Amino acid sequence: MGEGSILAGLPSQGRWSVSSWKPENGNRWALNCAVSNSLLISGASQIVTVRGRGPRRGDALSSIGVLHHGAILLRDGLIAAVGPSSKIEKLQESKKAEKFDVGGRVVLPGFVDAHTHLIHAASRAEEYELKIRGTSYEEIARRGGGILNSVTKLRAATAKELKSRARGFLEKFTEYGTTTIEAKSGYGLDVTSELRILSLHKELDAEQPLEIVSTFMGAHVVPTEYRGKARRTQEYLELLEEQLIPEVAKNGLAEFCDVFCERGAFSRSESRRVLEAGKAHALVPRVHAEQLSNTGAARMGIELGAASCDHLEYLQPADIRALGKSNTVATLLPGCDFHLGLQRYAPARELIAAGAIVALATDFNPGTSPTLSMPMILSLACSRLRMTPAEAIVAATINAAYSLHREKRVGSIERSKQADLGVFEVADYREIPYYFGVNTCWMTMKRGEIVHLRD
Ligand code: NIG
Ligand code: FE
Repeated sequence: MGEGSILAGLPSQGRWSVSSWKPENGNRWALNCAVSNSLLISGASQIVTVRGRGPRRGDALSSIGVLHHGAILLRDGLIAAVGPSSKIEKLQESKKAEKFDVGGRVVLPGFVDAHTHLIHAASRAEEYELKIRGTSYEEIARRGGGILNSVTKLRAATAKELKSRARGFLEKFTEYGTTTIEAKSGYGLDVTSELRILSLHKELDAEQPLEIVSTFMGAHVVPTEYRGKARRTQEYLELLEEQLIPEVAKNGLAEFCDVFCERGAFSRSESRRVLEAGKAHALVPRVHAEQLSNTGAARMGIELGAASCDHLEYLQPADIRALGKSNTVATLLPGCDFHLGLQRYAPARELIAAGAIVALATDFNPGTSPTLSMPMILSLACSRLRMTPAEAIVAATINAAYSLHREKRVGSIERSKQADLGVFEVADYREIPYYFGVNTCWMTMKRGEIVHLRD
C-alpha cells in the first residue's frame, strides 16, 4: 500500500478497526489518493456481483449473481478479479495485496442514479405543505410555483452558492452507496443560467469522486419571460434549437438532451423538435414521459432512439409493449409518487413481463422527489412497484448504467470494471430495501477509493 494511502495506518490483517480512521481536516474529499496497489476484499456474507452481459429484461432482471464465500481483488481502482475466496485468495497478487475484511457485510456494485436534477438553489418545502393540504402539483405550477419557483431562485444564486450546495448533496449521495449519477440542467432556462449549471456539472465531476453524467434539459418548462402568447413558446424553442443546443454540444457540456413532455410543459410535437435538434448535435434523447397524463411521449422517445423514458405512471398497454421490444430503458421514479402522495405508480410488473429494460432512479429534485437515497427508492420499488429486491438491485445498477451508456465500466462487480462498491451493514441483500428509510450503507468506494466510511 503506497505512502499516503487512506488505508495506511489501519490494521492490514483481520477485521478493520475503523474507529481510528478520520477524514483529513474533516474533509472526506481530501482523501484523494486512489488505491494504487492491490487490495483484497473478503469476509462479505454476500457479494452481489450483478455479473452477466448487458442490460437485463424479464426473468433475467432478477439474476444478481450472489457469491456467498467470495472475494474481490482490486488493482489501480479497477476490479482485477472476483470469484470464490478459495480461488481469488490463491492468486499470487492476492497474497501480496493489502487485506480488507468487510466483517460479514454485503457488497453491491455502487448504485447508478440515472435521473437527478442535482443543481438547484433551494428546497420547496412550502409547496410540500400546500400539497399536503390539498393543492395539486399542477395547480401550484399554474400559480407560478413549481419549476418556475426553482428557476427564480436559481437565477438569483451565485455559481459558488450552487456549487457548494451541490457538493453537499454529492457527499450525501455517497453515504447511500451511490457512485455514479446523471444530472440535468433545467432550473436556469436562459442561456447564462443553463450554461452555468452544465459547467458546474463538469467542474464537480472533475473535483470530487462521484461520476456525473450531464444532461441538457432546457426544455423543462417555458420560462416566465416567454409566456403569454403561443408565439413566445415558439421563440423559446428557437432559442433552444439555434443557440443553446449548439453551444452545449460545441463545449461538450452534456451527453444527453431531455424534455418534460407533459401538459403545462411541452407538447409531443414541441418535445420532438427539441430532441431532434439535440440529436442533430449528437445529444442522445431522454424523455420525462407519461408522468401526470398520457401524451404519447414514450412512443415518441422510442421512435427517436431515446436512451430512456422516465416516470411512465400513465403508460398505455401499447406503450408497454413498445418499450418491451425496444432498447429504450424504462426508468421508474417511485420517489415522485411517494412524495406527491399519488396513488398511481408505474406498471413495473407489466413492463418486466413485456421484456422492457427497467431501471430505477431517485429523480432527486426540489419539487417532486427530494431524496438522495437509492436504498429508499429500492424500498419503494419493492413495496409499491412490486419488484423483488433482486430486480430492484439490477434496475439500480447495470440497467441504470446501460441507460447512461456506462454499462461497460460500471454497474456490476466484474473483472476490468471500475471498483465502484457499496458495502452494507446487513447479512442479506434483501435487508437493504427491507429496512425502509434506514441507511444501512457502511462504506462506499469509487474507483477503489473510499469515499464514505461510517464512523
Ligand atoms: O422529474 N417532471 C419534471 N421534472 C421534475 C420535477 C421538477 C420540479 O418540480 O421541480 C420531475 O419530477
Ligand atoms: Fe425529473
